[in-house]
Amino acid sequence: MDSLRFLNPDQVRQIAKIFGTPVFVYDEKTLMNAAKSALSFPNRHGLTVRYAMKASPNRAILKLFDQMGLSIDASSGYEAERAIRAGISAHKIQITAQELPENLLELVSQGVSFNACSLHQLESFGRLFPRTKVSIRINPGLGSGHSNRTNVGGLSSSFGIWWEQIPELKQCAKKFGLTIHKLHTHIGSGADPEIWKKVARMSLAMAQEFESVTSLNLGGGFKVARMDGEKQTDLHAAGSAVLEAFEDFYRVTGRPLALEIEPGTYLVALAACVITQVIDKVNTGKEGYTFLKVNSGMTEVTRPSLYGAQHPLILVPKEDRKKLDIENVLVAGHCCESGDLLTPEPGNPEGLLPRTMIAATIGDYLVIEGAGAYCSGMSTKNYNSFPEATEILWEQNEQARLIRKRQTLEQITQNESPYVS
Ligand code: LLP
Repeated sequence: MDSLRFLNPDQVRQIAKIFGTPVFVYDEKTLMNAAKSALSFPNRHGLTVRYAMKASPNRAILKLFDQMGLSIDASSGYEAERAIRAGISAHKIQITAQELPENLLELVSQGVSFNACSLHQLESFGRLFPRTKVSIRINPGLGSGHSNRTNVGGLSSSFGIWWEQIPELKQCAKKFGLTIHKLHTHIGSGADPEIWKKVARMSLAMAQEFESVTSLNLGGGFKVARMDGEKQTDLHAAGSAVLEAFEDFYRVTGRPLALEIEPGTYLVALAACVITQVIDKVNTGKEGYTFLKVNSGMTEVTRPSLYGAQHPLILVPKEDRKKLDIENVLVAGHCCESGDLLTPEPGNPEGLLPRTMIAATIGDYLVIEGAGAYCSGMSTKNYNSFPEATEILWEQNEQARLIRKRQTLEQITQNESPYVS
């Protein structure tokens, strides 16, 4: 059975009583340790670690990582602006976006750097900032992810400039006098480490074609093990394998190439849980299933309904019980949506796989672990008009600090206008 990662049952009950549920709890110690580990990624000629803030963009988390020495990967103009508003220096932010920000001129003028992800983006950047430096995202022809939906390399991916179009991109850069000073590849989330290493070598080979390139960004995508038995990428092993390739590159070209990585998942996935409460328990008869319903689900954790992703689920009785029974249950969220399930079959959002856990009664707490990455920041927020959940930071001294209040109904509807007949 799954177990709690950083809180004990009493702390779960206490936090739920003080802050209500659902509540995201981020563990400061885990966040710091993950940052330290990423910052020790093997490198020879310098390392920049960018936090892919799309994974969880709360300003407290951005600031914590900023203080630890991390830079930022922003995936839109809004994210870049959000990071600046959180107090991050514009010079530490790089935009890698699918949509060209409307305020690109303003952002880049403040010091934000730009990674062109298509020929159109490169051309647009060139018009705005001729004779400057730019980074280029390449689709190296190979990708890998924990599901097809998180694979962003290869023929079926629209991310980055297709590797065979390097001559066109060079021509475009020349037209505007742009210096290509960085190359970037990010091939997917939850990538197979062997494919990641292979792409790192392919990227180094491409860097040979660009004499002006001084830095190579190998993206994020490092797998973490949320569930027992899942395999986690050994960051040090992946980095060491790449280090040799950087050394070879230096031997051949005499160019000391700096390294950038931009993990999201690796930095935050295991650092948060969501405390939810069991609001109902139903069954579909002898041939059917027992369902626990919780006051959360896809409004906080969409990954299971989207990818069939697995998150540990731990039942915490609302008070200590003398005898704890065990049961097999499916866990459903609170949305009027049959897909709002926290117990899909692994990798199959439409399949069902009951979990074994402590028998629940209504009012008990259910803790969803591994909820730090792409949960709060990537949920079907406000569906059924449920407000955005509270977020707290569980500080190293085991004190809870509020880092986001629960949203109010007024905030959900504040931009609407009444119907006028
Ligand atoms: N760099 C770029 C350009 C990215 O697009 C991403 C993620 C990252 C870095 C960070 O990747 P990570 O280290 O987190 O794998 N929603 C999915 C993941 C999609 C991530 C999109 N881009 C999930 O829940 O697993």
